[in-house]
Amino acid sequence: MDFVIAVDGPAASGKGTVAVGLGRRFALPVLDTGLLYRAVGVGVVRIGGDLDDEGFAARVASGLDAGALEDPAFRTRAAGEAASRVAVHPAVRQALKDFQRMFALQKGGAILDGRDIGTVIAPEAPAKLFVTASPEVRAQRRWKQLQAEGTTYQEVLADIHKRDERDSGRAAAPLVRAEDAVLLDTSQMTIDEAADAARRIVEAARARWEASSRPG
Ligand code: C5P
Repeated sequence: MDFVIAVDGPAASGKGTVAVGLGRRFALPVLDTGLLYRAVGVGVVRIGGDLDDEGFAARVASGLDAGALEDPAFRTRAAGEAASRVAVHPAVRQALKDFQRMFALQKGGAILDGRDIGTVIAPEAPAKLFVTASPEVRAQRRWKQLQAEGTTYQEVLADIHKRDERDSGRAAAPLVRAEDAVLLDTSQMTIDEAADAARRIVEAARARWEASSRPG
């Protein structure tokens, strides 16, 4: 595996922004793995399926066009909710695994952000971050992004609590910090400060990785 950065954390923790910033700094491609689960959730709903039907959701996941993740419908609150419901199914996670693994193993390295990158998808990643923030701060950030939907802050906060519970409580690849992931709490940070802190953590990991992969 080349230089892979695993960025995990709960909803709206800032991990997406951190991952994109790292992508620029290290000139690495970034995969937002949440979009895969969002695409499956939206796909199931669009064809009138049941999000709790594992077999159905897994078939949608197997047929997913991972090259077409730019649909704005994947960014909505409903898509986030649908994503976390299909994400509890082991067969869905399995169907999405190969694509994520291939992305991680590409020549030159890669960055993946999600919930289980450092624990399941790329446990051997040389750099791992666990990005978090308090539920209130995360709800505030998500609420600002969702203004166009006319949602209230209280609704978004309730969503965040529900999503945390579902993501952390599920049996299949729950959201947990990998033992060797560096914790980055962005509650008191601006976006730039979080990106900066992440950059420093990864620069240190990269120096260690380079030293250890040097021949002799
Ligand atoms: O990160 P994002 O909010 O887009 O993820 C949507 C949902 O997809 C999460 O709440 C989680 O349930 C699921 N997910 C996951 N594993 C990942 C990425 C996302 O279970 N690697």
